[in-house]
Amino acid sequence: MKARCLATLLVTLMCSTIHAADLTGTWRIDLPRRGGVLLHTYFVLRQQGAEVDGKVVINEGGEIPLRRAHFEGEDFVFGTDWNTDYRLHPDGDRLEVTVTYVGHGSEKATAVRVPEAAAHPPAALPLPALEPVPPNGLALTPPMGWNSWNHFGDRVDDPIIRETADALVKSGLAAAGYVYVNIDDCWESGRDARGNIVTNTKFPDMKALADYVHQRGLKLGLYSSPGPRTCGGYEGSYGHEEQDAKTYAAWGIDYLKYDWCSAGRIYPESALQAAYQKMGRALAQCGRPIVYSLCEYGMGEVWKWGPQVGANLWRTTGDIQDNWKSMSEIGFNQGRLAPYAAPGHWNDPDMLEVGNGGMTIPEYRTHFSLWCLLAAPLLAGNDLRTMSAEMLEILGNREVIALDQDPLGKQGERLAQRDGIEIWTKPLRDGGRAVGVFNRNDAARTAPFTWKELGLAAPPKEVRDLWRHVDVTPAADGYSASIAAHDVLLLRVR
Ligand code: GLA
Repeated sequence: MKARCLATLLVTLMCSTIHAADLTGTWRIDLPRRGGVLLHTYFVLRQQGAEVDGKVVINEGGEIPLRRAHFEGEDFVFGTDWNTDYRLHPDGDRLEVTVTYVGHGSEKATAVRVPEAAAHPPAALPLPALEPVPPNGLALTPPMGWNSWNHFGDRVDDPIIRETADALVKSGLAAAGYVYVNIDDCWESGRDARGNIVTNTKFPDMKALADYVHQRGLKLGLYSSPGPRTCGGYEGSYGHEEQDAKTYAAWGIDYLKYDWCSAGRIYPESALQAAYQKMGRALAQCGRPIVYSLCEYGMGEVWKWGPQVGANLWRTTGDIQDNWKSMSEIGFNQGRLAPYAAPGHWNDPDMLEVGNGGMTIPEYRTHFSLWCLLAAPLLAGNDLRTMSAEMLEILGNREVIALDQDPLGKQGERLAQRDGIEIWTKPLRDGGRAVGVFNRNDAARTAPFTWKELGLAAPPKEVRDLWRHVDVTPAADGYSASIAAHDVLLLRVR
């Protein structure tokens, strides 16, 4: 009798807890962000008994499936592939939601039911027929400057941009070629009654900011998306491409990074080229020279059609992270794209992490050397206002920068690979070449190579070590040096 009572009690308890609320429906949470911006995330759920499936529409941009979904008492708990976990606690006709950004804290919000259509992306607008956009004549060498994303993320604001412009000048980096000061995501608010893009409160006056940057001999860059939302969930250029290009021109913008993001919810991958052409044409007709930077992580072999949409550079990979694994996996895999780099059109293996703290000095030296051999855009991504002397020495090494900025505009390639050592070369306009010998091992190695291996019939007349800043006397047959773990020997030979 006692056991039967207990069993009945358990079943009643389970029913009243697990099935207390039916989660089926579309729910929205509003998340306040810096700059007076409110972002929305939707939960589109379908519950059958104790089973719930569905998706999260994060910031109206990315749609992602629920992972490891389960009930913990009354709470419905799940994770995502985007390092964000959710706990939904039923409270009457609402849900109390805890959003956990794994390793970066959490926040609470209240979810309310909204009509199903609220979470749907807008219908696809027609895209133009493919027709090449004429080259804009910009970026004849890889663009150099700074971008806010890697260090500041959504904290970027007007004072940071002004102070960074000042730091570029004061540190000597501006004189070394770093001219673009690029605001990445999180500057946008929404649109005014006429559909004009409006900045959020972190950027009170974009035109005045551009003037400030221009007065220092520098240029200002911005960021947007062909979709309705940027990757951070802010306002994108969808359906406002020409209008936005005109606004950028009126503000005095010199560079646009255009990030696919939520466009992936609207267009199929086959529409990439037309969607990018739409903004390429709008920029070409806006009355101001604006460098056009595509960010779609290498989808659709962008290097094959980037020039046709008016692009000056295109990302070839997903996002870089400030660690050896991410940087080296990206950097050492770019060789196959060498044929697609040329003056005005560059492969972009993502922005620099030098000085952000996640790598050692030799690793940052390798990062910078490799990006210069790749003729990659050099967009510093650290806090230039507080940079150490060691990081300034890396970013400001003019002999290394000269390899990147060589007017021949050839991207370097891997010549040999053995025992964790990689030898890369880049042809230069003076007939010489850059040679990078990289030690990817976790311990020091002696790394000999021969001139013959470099394709040289005779020993070179001049060999310069670009990190030690010394001329070295070449031996008759080749070169040998001990290279520390994750470090590089970078030579210019002629
Ligand atoms: C994407 C891009 C990054 C950065 C962020 C901003 O992840 O690849 O470089 O622009 O969006 O949200």
